[in-house]
Amino acid sequence: MNSTKTCIINCKYKLTYENPRGFLFGFYLLNWAIKPRNKPYTRWQQAEKIEMQLQKAIIKDITELRKICIDAYSKNFYDHWNEGGLEWYLEKEFSAERLKFDLLDKDTEYYFIKRGLKNVGFIKIKNNTNKDLNIENAVELEKIYVLPECKGMGIGKSALTEIIKKTKEHGYKNLILCVIDTNVNAIAFYEKLGFIFHSKTILDIPYFKEELKGMNRMIIQLDEKSQLPTMYNR
Ligand SMILES: CC(C)(COP(=O)(O)OP(=O)(O)OC[C@H]1O[C@@H](n2cnc3c(N)ncnc32)[C@H](O)[C@@H]1OP(=O)(O)O)[C@@H](O)C(=O)NCCC(=O)NCCS
Repeated sequence: MNSTKTCIINCKYKLTYENPRGFLFGFYLLNWAIKPRNKPYTRWQQAEKIEMQLQKAIIKDITELRKICIDAYSKNFYDHWNEGGLEWYLEKEFSAERLKFDLLDKDTEYYFIKRGLKNVGFIKIKNNTNKDLNIENAVELEKIYVLPECKGMGIGKSALTEIIKKTKEHGYKNLILCVIDTNVNAIAFYEKLGFIFHSKTILDIPYFKEELKGMNRMIIQLDEKSQLPTMYNR
């Protein structure tokens, strides 16, 4: 045995540089050993953190936008639909016609979440919404999706922090959203950013799995002076 080339011995896979299977196993072990506790990502992923940019989508971006929307949505939520539902939803929300309609709407905005030149997710917001809930001056975060391979690297947090900042700068007082009440990961993510529970609602959409239709509305106040109706305070 050449001791200088042996990392660990007496284990199922002999961990030498000359043994690729053993070397990979060693890498996995090391990565697991130094994974931060209670964090959904490893230090390797953390070390990879690079600048995230938000880029507002415009009409000429429709093809590119359609691609990342379909990719990021389907990879995250494909299992939330009954048969045929995902295809129906993708066409309804992300067809070229629908995206064009949304981009021409003065209150709807789409953003690419970019890492370098690569699109790794997207955000959709709607300004001046939820007048029916008696929430004044509100923007709704309609969609935020990051590609699964890029989750847990701080990208969603940077992107949403920037949206919160922009929304505040535009003088809005509240940012609200709806999240499936069993989506504990997203709820934890929103809470980290300061959103609180607002109220319950139901997703009224065909083909969606019945047991996933319960939704929480969450809200963040952007202006300390603005008051939420007291019935919603917790
Ligand atoms: C929810 C989502 C946008 C978050 O983006 P992300 O890039 O994965 O999250 P980040 O890495 O920026 O995490 C930000 C914070 O949230 C926390 N967080 C993220 N995912 C978490 C999880 N699964 N469990 C607990 N906390 C989590 C992180 O710990 C981090 O906190 P920290 O800054 O103290 O470390 C992304 O995971 C996603 O696209 N999920 C699938 C689609 C979805 O559910 N969208 C929301 C629909 S309403």
